[in-house]
Amino acid sequence: MTLNRKISHWRGQVVWISGASSGIGLALAEQLLARGAQVILSARNCASLNAICAKYPLAMMINCDITDIQALTQTVQTIIAKYQRIDLFVANAGVYNEMHAFDFNAEAAQQMLDINVSGTINSVAAVIPQLLQQGSGGIAVVASVAGYGGLPAALIYGASKAALINFTETLYLDLSAKGLSVTLITPGFVDTRLTQKNKFSMPALLTSEQAAAKIITGFARGDFEIHFPHRFTLWLKLLKLLPYQVYFFLVKRFTK
Ligand SMILES: NC(=O)c1ccc[n+]([C@@H]2O[C@H](COP(=O)([O-])OP(=O)(O)OC[C@H]3O[C@@H](n4cnc5c(N)ncnc54)[C@H](OP(=O)(O)O)[C@@H]3O)[C@@H](O)[C@H]2O)c1
Repeated sequence: MTLNRKISHWRGQVVWISGASSGIGLALAEQLLARGAQVILSARNCASLNAICAKYPLAMMINCDITDIQALTQTVQTIIAKYQRIDLFVANAGVYNEMHAFDFNAEAAQQMLDINVSGTINSVAAVIPQLLQQGSGGIAVVASVAGYGGLPAALIYGASKAALINFTETLYLDLSAKGLSVTLITPGFVDTRLTQKNKFSMPALLTSEQAAAKIITGFARGDFEIHFPHRFTLWLKLLKLLPYQVYFFLVKRFTK
């Protein structure tokens, strides 16, 4: 059963992507622009946004820090002033810092929670009234497989993404009844500046371009959850169904 409106024709669609200055957000923006979407790219660092906007006439850039509620409101107003609607918002901006319980860094933890949880939730909250007024459109939240269950090195990051998974599920329950689409995106490892600092080997690593292509395929299917690559994510989903004794044993064994 299809849970969301299927999007396969992107020409003319107004799509806002937060965190579009690099990595998955940038690759997704480029692929949607190539399909004729009108893409609003936002982030804090304008240099790379400027470079892409110079290449694509359909691109618009907005400097927006998702921890700044006023900037989020202004971003929505700027988009509406130009396009009169938002067809899809991809809440993609996020940060990752490796952390363990034995080297807990309260400042880095707070920063991750402020951006990944509060920033994402506030950016979605800024868009909802507009989508409800339109009676159409969708929201996609980029979480992570790290939110499925506890994993080493992902203290706080994993918790922040688990919060987003729960948030997006509830968002679906609330908004699908109002005719809006809500999509959860849970990538495995993708080669971006976020993961390039990892010292451990990352199984089933994808490029940003491959990740963006999988996201677009998921939108075309109308999936609620777009997770990839399946050769990695399906194992993690299976792992989560096992008793904790087995879960902890296998996670320790495979992440040694
Ligand atoms: N790479 C992976 O393996 C992986 C796996 C699962 C999930 N994810 C998720 O995918 C999303 C994109 O990450 P990525 O891998 O593509 O990493 P990335 O290349 O570092 O991209 C992160 C984006 O978020 C933006 N950002 C960070 N803090 C922000 C803030 N306060 N306000 C606005 N924008 C902010 C960054 O732009 P500025 O610094 O210019 O603001 C950048 O454009 C993140 O949510 C991440 O958690 C990644």
